Amino acid sequence: MKKVALVTGAKGGIGSAITKGLVEEGYRVVAAFSPGNEACAQDWFAENNYTADQVRMLALDVTDTEMCKSALLQLTQEEGSVDVLVNNAGITRDSVFKRMEANQWTDVINTNLNSLFNVTQPLFAAMCEKGNGRIINISSVNGVKGQFGQANYSAAKAGMIGFTKALAFEGAKSGTTVNAIAPGYTATPMVEAIRPEVLESIKAEIPMKRLATPEEIAGAVIYLASDVGGYITGETLSLNGGLYMQ
Ligand SMILES: NC(=O)c1ccc[n+]([C@@H]2O[C@H](COP(=O)([O-])OP(=O)(O)OC[C@H]3O[C@@H](n4cnc5c(N)ncnc54)[C@H](OP(=O)(O)O)[C@@H]3O)[C@@H](O)[C@H]2O)c1
Repeated sequence: MKKVALVTGAKGGIGSAITKGLVEEGYRVVAAFSPGNEACAQDWFAENNYTADQVRMLALDVTDTEMCKSALLQLTQEEGSVDVLVNNAGITRDSVFKRMEANQWTDVINTNLNSLFNVTQPLFAAMCEKGNGRIINISSVNGVKGQFGQANYSAAKAGMIGFTKALAFEGAKSGTTVNAIAPGYTATPMVEAIRPEVLESIKAEIPMKRLATPEEIAGAVIYLASDVGGYITGETLSLNGGLYMQ
């Protein structure tokens, strides 16, 4: 019987690599995407040559508490269990704080942080009951060190780390681990949205002088999801090319 992994933001840059990596490891992946993007989601499924046994598509707005509750309780019933949860969906709405609009703040907090409640809560009890669950939250280097123009995003991503540590206590007894990954700048559409001259100056600051690949982030997810990753909990694993060393 295949283990089931739910990945939010599955068809994004990092989410696609995580989905592919988990499929290659033999997981059945439930690939969650924003409702309204059905055609695009089907194209993504077809382009990757996934079979229905490997990947199940699920429309899920991670900011919608009620939708998450009903869809994920139904999913658990239909799949039997969700063994691995990767909270990966996220957005940026950058602005210097002086000019930041209220919706730039709330959209980022809702999508990156409140989503952890919406998606994790309906699954957590069953994961603990089964034992050996894995929850992996995709935070960011900018949640660890802060970043100019990202008060909203840095707050959300730092909040994810606090959530990770707190929930790790609650899962530990059942062997359910809760960890965060803090990627540095990674070559995905999110980073392609940064102005080229700004991106060049970011790269110049990275000791490795390059962006991470989505596959490098996926590799960390696969490790934390694995059986041999079972004694790591409440941790934040940094993958940032030396940009910020703690
Ligand atoms: N790229 C980086 O440099 C970097 C660095 C550190 C951390 N991260 C984090 O890594 C994660 C993935 O980022 P990425 O670079 O792969 O970005 P991306 O390509 O823009 O993917 C983000 C995904 O989030 C999904 N999403 C956004 N709002 C959603 C909502 N309300 N409900 C459901 N899904 C929603 C999108 O789904 P749809 O496509 O279906 O709309 C998209 O697939 C994010 O949490 C990001 O903050 C990225």
